[in-house]
Amino acid sequence: MNQTIQKAKSFKGTIDVPGDKSISHRALLLGALAEGTTRITNLSHGQDVMSTLACLQKMGIRIDQDADETQVHGKGLSGFSRPETALNAGNSGTTMRLMSGILSAQPFHSVMTGDASLSKRPMNRIVHPLTMMGAVIHTKEGGFPPLQIQGTTLHPIHYNSPVASAQIKSSVLLAGLFADGKTSVTEPEQSRDHTERMLPCFGIPVEKAGLTVSVTGPAKLQSAFIDVPGDISSAAFCIIGALLIQNSNVIIKNIGINPTRTGLIDVLERMGAMIQKTNVSNVNGEPRADLTVTTSPLRSIEIGSKTIPLLIDEIPVLAIAAARAEGTTIIRDAKELRVKESDRIHAIGKNLRAMGVEIVTFEDGFAITGPQSLKGANIDSFGDHRIAMAFSIAGLIAEGKTVIQDSECADISYPAFFKTLNQLSNG
Ligand code: S3P
Repeated sequence: MNQTIQKAKSFKGTIDVPGDKSISHRALLLGALAEGTTRITNLSHGQDVMSTLACLQKMGIRIDQDADETQVHGKGLSGFSRPETALNAGNSGTTMRLMSGILSAQPFHSVMTGDASLSKRPMNRIVHPLTMMGAVIHTKEGGFPPLQIQGTTLHPIHYNSPVASAQIKSSVLLAGLFADGKTSVTEPEQSRDHTERMLPCFGIPVEKAGLTVSVTGPAKLQSAFIDVPGDISSAAFCIIGALLIQNSNVIIKNIGINPTRTGLIDVLERMGAMIQKTNVSNVNGEPRADLTVTTSPLRSIEIGSKTIPLLIDEIPVLAIAAARAEGTTIIRDAKELRVKESDRIHAIGKNLRAMGVEIVTFEDGFAITGPQSLKGANIDSFGDHRIAMAFSIAGLIAEGKTVIQDSECADISYPAFFKTLNQLSNG
């Protein structure tokens, strides 16, 4: 499906965005490992989270959903049954990597597959530590899915991760829940910490010291009530839309503002953005607030290693803001973008150039000198939800017509995205 986007005169209104994708995956997984019924409100209904849900159901976990609530009927650490066919993670790296930590400790053999994009993403980053813990995992040559996982009795490790990745950290910590003793992960920079914040809600203490986090197994999880805040990574598109489109004022309700996820807001504020937080509260150890965003002139910024994990998923839409900001914006140390749902550095470069924007790309980032004017173009989404949505925002500020190819990939994280754009453009 193609989506046509025209220049917007303003962006106005009050919106909700889907529940946080990272927190939703973890609520389902921990709910399945707990004993008793975990109730989850505001779970993301994007395709990625539905992949996690379907994998759990395939292993005998009953999950009931109605309009307001999802109930996961957990069976404890050893309650999974052997899946009769392969577990399909779809497009979701989080599903495959986190689930692998759990499957490594099961007394059965399982297979995890994914779609064409996921089948090209690196899995040795989790195979390596899980193998150190005792699991036997076979990949396709080069470390790609499908994964064949022979679960076993795991032993605890201290893992020094070479990459700042919450998926690696969480995969090892989930495996650590099954191992007898203390499992620790040290990461080179702080990545999102939702697993660490959610485990105590299920009665599991987590030790933290600097960039090291530890759990002690075998753990016994109690069921919990988890209310998922709105996803700041989904809010990012309308935040930047509101900043760049003239005469705009958008209120985005109930957004998660965990400091390991607010890199984009911090960076935009340094660029001159007006973003106001109200109704700040904290539920399940996760802070949240309503955000009010008003049209703002932006100046350039330079971002490197420490900040990158705090806004890794928001870099495609940040590139659109960079094109409109005064001065040269430089993003470095973001090589991870090459192994996301698409090679996002390539996708950003190709599509911005198609819109008439000059950009210099590096192996680990890019530089853009603004302000530049954008012209409507045909956008190759590469089937990547965040590329499709970032360039939809670009289309709203470009002269002429923009066509987003394969725009249905937005459903991976934000099924109502185009409806919301319409609402705000006509607000
Ligand atoms: C995620 C972690 C990030 C992020 C992904 C979701 C998670 O990946 O890009 O969209 O839920 O743990 P890495 O941790 O591999 O950087």
